[in-house]
Amino acid sequence: MNTEVLIYSPESIQKAAEILKAGGIVGMPTETVYGLAANALDENAVRDIFVAKGRPQDNPLIVHISSIDMLPKLVREIPDVALRLAQRFWGGPLTMIFPKADIIPAVTSGGLDTVAVRMPASEAARDIINACGFPIAAPSANLSGSPSPTTAQHVFRDMDGRIPLIIDDGACSCGVESTVICFRDGRIHILRPGGVTAEMLSEFAEVEIDKAVSAKPAENEKVLSPGMKYKHYSPKADVFIVDEHGDAFLRYCNANINGNTVAMGIGVTEQDIFIDYGATPELQAQRLFALLRKADDDGADTVYVEMPSREGVGLAVYNRLLRAAGFRVVKNDKAE
Ligand code: TXA
Ligand code: MG
Repeated sequence: MNTEVLIYSPESIQKAAEILKAGGIVGMPTETVYGLAANALDENAVRDIFVAKGRPQDNPLIVHISSIDMLPKLVREIPDVALRLAQRFWGGPLTMIFPKADIIPAVTSGGLDTVAVRMPASEAARDIINACGFPIAAPSANLSGSPSPTTAQHVFRDMDGRIPLIIDDGACSCGVESTVICFRDGRIHILRPGGVTAEMLSEFAEVEIDKAVSAKPAENEKVLSPGMKYKHYSPKADVFIVDEHGDAFLRYCNANINGNTVAMGIGVTEQDIFIDYGATPELQAQRLFALLRKADDDGADTVYVEMPSREGVGLAVYNRLLRAAGFRVVKNDKAE
């Protein structure tokens, strides 16, 4: 199959809608990361997403809508707080879990009785959904296990020959996937941190953060969000989080060069092995996946990343990095 990349325009959206209406898959831009889109209500189309990505069948997909009016048909119940959150944060990087209606096929929900729904901020994504008239299931458009794509070129690298069309709307403004939440006893439970932060959500209800966000789940432990149990966001290089800052970070990296080594620092001067991954959590979120992919393209053996702040969207950066690093956090030897 030949994979076409077309710039976002009324014509390319029309072409995407034709493919999707015929049961096909399209690479779709969103403000978080690029997605692999298919008709969420079409079992066969959704099954093809899992094949294109090489994704485990029990990992459910997020259903994307273009207006709040599309929600009631997809779910059995909408808590008051969910409606208030939708009014405040949709379109935007917030995914909410609801009891699913029968119209959602089991393949879409990974066999669960719940469904994850979000309304993207991206105009391109909403144009695609509007042109189709049905909700769109879309996981991140990377091969399962590799870093999520934040440009159309990243999608092309992973999906060339697997899908007919990618809509190119430039680099994603958020850069990490949406915040995923469910509701428990009136509290907002964060399953995956993202662009809508715990601080922002806490204005609406008490917020708790799932322990799988920052901890390695034990073998066979039941996790609320199936995506959290898979090895994720991993480049081919060996990634380590370095829990040091400033000069101590530079010292650790220089003392531990191992093969072709890249060191991603917070606001560092770019020289030798060092590259800057951004002085703020927002910039780090935008750049993280692209830099991990670039490290692979440059043939890096080892990647050191300075510990992010964990404040605001920094928690999402930390959560993705922990998984890219296989939970390996290192420090300078105290004897030094
Ligand atoms: O920003 C995003 O959310 C992007 C863009 C394309 O919209 N999509 C995305 O999808 O990140 P994906 O499939 O890569 O991640 C979906 C996450 C997974 O961790 C999955 O386990 C979780 O959401 N999830 C989906 N449905 C769920 C459900 N019913 N219950 C619990 N977790 C669910
Ligand atoms: Mg993903």
